[in-house]
Amino acid sequence: MTQPVRHFLDLWRLERGDLRAILDDARARKAARAGWPKGMADADRPADGRTLAMIFEKHSTRTRFSFDAAMRQLGGSTIISNAGDMQIGRGEPIEDTARVLSRMVDAVMIRANVHEDVERFALSSAVPVINGLTDRSHPCQIMADLLTFEEHRGSVEGRTFAWVGDGNNVCASLIHAAPKLGFRLNIASPAIYHPDLLDLARAAEQQGQIMTTEDPREAVRGADCVITDTWVSMGDTDHDERLDTLEPYQVDEVLMDEAHADALFMHCLPAHRGEEVSDAVIDGPQSVIFDEAENRLHAQKSILAWCFGKIG
Ligand code: CP
Ligand code: NVA
Repeated sequence: MTQPVRHFLDLWRLERGDLRAILDDARARKAARAGWPKGMADADRPADGRTLAMIFEKHSTRTRFSFDAAMRQLGGSTIISNAGDMQIGRGEPIEDTARVLSRMVDAVMIRANVHEDVERFALSSAVPVINGLTDRSHPCQIMADLLTFEEHRGSVEGRTFAWVGDGNNVCASLIHAAPKLGFRLNIASPAIYHPDLLDLARAAEQQGQIMTTEDPREAVRGADCVITDTWVSMGDTDHDERLDTLEPYQVDEVLMDEAHADALFMHCLPAHRGEEVSDAVIDGPQSVIFDEAENRLHAQKSILAWCFGKIG
């Protein structure tokens, strides 16, 4: 019997055991190549002979470079294109694009404006499809964040994460992960930029321990990790209104003092110092933002290995 194609679209769709296997593989794989040149392939070359296509409808630095480096370290290769250079940019159906690329590559990573487009792509794809960020979620980022937390502080299970600011796509993937991996999540956002209610309802069904509030101090109190993100995501048009409304949600040293004394600070980057986070916090001793950025590479190698059926 043929196995179903392993798409990596959203964390709420995945089994807890698969998420655990990805995080554990990432940690082991990173340790096994400590000090090696970055272009050298891992000893087991789990993507040997495989090609990943990457399609970008939005800007990217970390996702673009980390997936490319990831495939090289796994022994595979990549083909990268901006969507605007492809025929989908001129209206070719996304389903036809998926069927064509399925004949040419072994997996596809897409960064898309509209989440449903990634889901439609996956429905027509014969090879694994990975969500590299949409308007609704950013699962690869949260896998890197969880890997980073566990490197510094041990298992996320039973720990408390606080999200402060816009209840956006990155926040959504954190909500998706919380019930799967057993951490508590406190979210502080103004009502107008509240996290998605469907995400919260689904997490509640999965026994997620998630608290929402408009008060950042309440969310951060006693947290083991404080996370924020830009107040204006790619595609947002209400720039000035967002900056005004979200101003009380800046993560600064006073707010960090409410968290656990050894709390970590995370941000997926790119950051806007002086807006969602103060310079003192993002460049201070609790910040692990560059470990987080590096761990995009390590987490995604294991996401790819999972998609190729090598783990989990
Ligand atoms: N964090 C993140 O996804 O960064 P890029 O937009 O640079 O890919
Ligand atoms: N929320 C941000 C994340 C960027 C990595 C955005 O969607 O633009």
